[in-house]
Amino acid sequence: MRRKLVVGNWKMNGSLTANASLLSGLVSGITGSAELVVCVPFPYLAQCQVALSGSTIAWGAQDVSEHFSGAYTGEVAASMLHDFGCRYVILGHSERRTFHVETDEQVARKVQCASQAGLLPIVCVGETLLEREAGATEAVVVRQVETVLNVLGQDELANIVLAYEPVWAIGTGRTATPAMAQEVHALLRDRVSLRDKGVAEQIRIVYGGSMKPENAKELMAMPDIDGGLIGGASLKTTDFLAIAQAA
Ligand code: PGA
Repeated sequence: MRRKLVVGNWKMNGSLTANASLLSGLVSGITGSAELVVCVPFPYLAQCQVALSGSTIAWGAQDVSEHFSGAYTGEVAASMLHDFGCRYVILGHSERRTFHVETDEQVARKVQCASQAGLLPIVCVGETLLEREAGATEAVVVRQVETVLNVLGQDELANIVLAYEPVWAIGTGRTATPAMAQEVHALLRDRVSLRDKGVAEQIRIVYGGSMKPENAKELMAMPDIDGGLIGGASLKTTDFLAIAQAA
């Protein structure tokens, strides 16, 4: 049995005051068996470390440098995330692939850096609307995931999470149907299975893209959907807790 994983992706939102009330609401309201994580902007990691230490909620970041250290102004190294108690880091999010032109190869290098620092990478893949309409969904997600799988050793493979996030569903209110998402999740699990059958059974593949309390249950009821990567709804205590509860 894979334990469900519900990850909040705050994106570039929050303030010390707003975070304090969101985090304390999560700590006092958490119920259910799902593992809960918040991935927050870098400056708020220290605040999360204080607010969440001793709770069952984990925290992480939304990106990391593809280098270990050195003259890379503005970048943040995986070891620094580790210093602040991060357990997870979201990598290859479509907003980074689009706005920061991150390539599959860069995402793969970031995954390696994160793994080597003892973090659990949450590797995002997903097609755009144009790609889906052109019938290229499978080709796109396979290319994205294989570039990462190619650089990972057996141990590292066992310590990643995959996130299927159709780009057309992110922040749009449009969600993939459970059947559409399941089809891609099963495909991703198959690709992992070609590398290691045991890991494929264990690896968690979460869905992201307009997941809300109203649709979370039916999505996460699908056999290969092991949780959610939640943007907008993770900023509201009641919505995020309701999604965790549905998992
Ligand atoms: P959304 O974002 O839930 O607001 O669609 C999900 C994500 O981008 O991770």
